[in-house]
Amino acid sequence: MADLKLIDPYNRHLNYLRISITDRCNLKCIYCVPRHLIPRLSHDEILTYEEILRLVRIGVRLGISKIRVTGGEPLVRKGVYGFLTDLSGLDGLVDLSLTTNGVTLKDNLNKIKTAGIKRINISLDTLNPKKFERITGFDLFDQVWQGIEMALSLGFHPIKLNIVALNGINDDELADMAHLSFDYPLHIRFIEYMPIGESQIGNAPLLLAPEIKKRISVLGKLIPVAKTMNDGPAQRYHFEGAAGEIGFIHALSHHFCDRCNRLRLTARGQLRPCLLSDHHEDVRGIMRSGGTDEQLAEVFFRAVRHKPSDHNLAIQNPSGVCGQMSSIGG
Ligand code: 5AD
Repeated sequence: MADLKLIDPYNRHLNYLRISITDRCNLKCIYCVPRHLIPRLSHDEILTYEEILRLVRIGVRLGISKIRVTGGEPLVRKGVYGFLTDLSGLDGLVDLSLTTNGVTLKDNLNKIKTAGIKRINISLDTLNPKKFERITGFDLFDQVWQGIEMALSLGFHPIKLNIVALNGINDDELADMAHLSFDYPLHIRFIEYMPIGESQIGNAPLLLAPEIKKRISVLGKLIPVAKTMNDGPAQRYHFEGAAGEIGFIHALSHHFCDRCNRLRLTARGQLRPCLLSDHHEDVRGIMRSGGTDEQLAEVFFRAVRHKPSDHNLAIQNPSGVCGQMSSIGG
């Protein structure tokens, strides 16, 4: 097993694992969850931290070197800081990051830092507290913003702000959000809304990267940032003289599947080779019925063999993925 790496049929080297540690969240964002209640996984259904760490050790032997912890909201799971510490102590990982909605960030940043996390992504779709409540269901904008300011002052870098661009909801403040990059060393990332699972977004026309670019170009010329080895799917730019960056995640208007290096582990213990396909391999069952590390490694390879060359999600063909973003982890 030592020499085998996770290379898919299209010669993509998969070295990045995104781990959703819980499907629970303390917000109810309209683009992420449906209006009606969705059943939550029970305690027994989600992988224990020990199970996740075992899978990560196996993944690292197969070439995984980059991990992002997501949810739901990862910081609501009990014991998360100890888990992050254990994770960052594993040999072979070169990059460990966290995606959070920022709600509990301000009181926990020191624990996050001590645990060894240097990079965080924070979801923030508006700068308007009333709108924040409309989008997330909770009046918590100030709390999240304080968390962002504190993360900046503690030296986390980069801090990325994830903004899902939503027509009729935050389309009027895209330039204001982009403007943050002048004053703060933040990486502002505009994400095209991906219509997967059930959400509360109707059939409003999608707001795509070319239009977002146009709207923020009132601030100046977007200068491309040179690509680096560890670049994700974002197309990166900065404004002249700005402290931070602007990025676009254009999953719909321009697929980036040919460069995709990701696998996902869901909270219920499924390995998913593509966010935008429901194909998954069960690792929990194998692990809980006494599966060996070799058998689990074989499941990684199986997932990798099923990684589609491209996803089917298109502007004209929006549906088809049943999995909820909140349980896959974005
Ligand atoms: N489309 C695009 N992005 C989404 N996210 C959650 N749901 C969607 C969706 N339907 C984003 C969140 C979070 C990231 C992990 O995924 O804003 O920052």
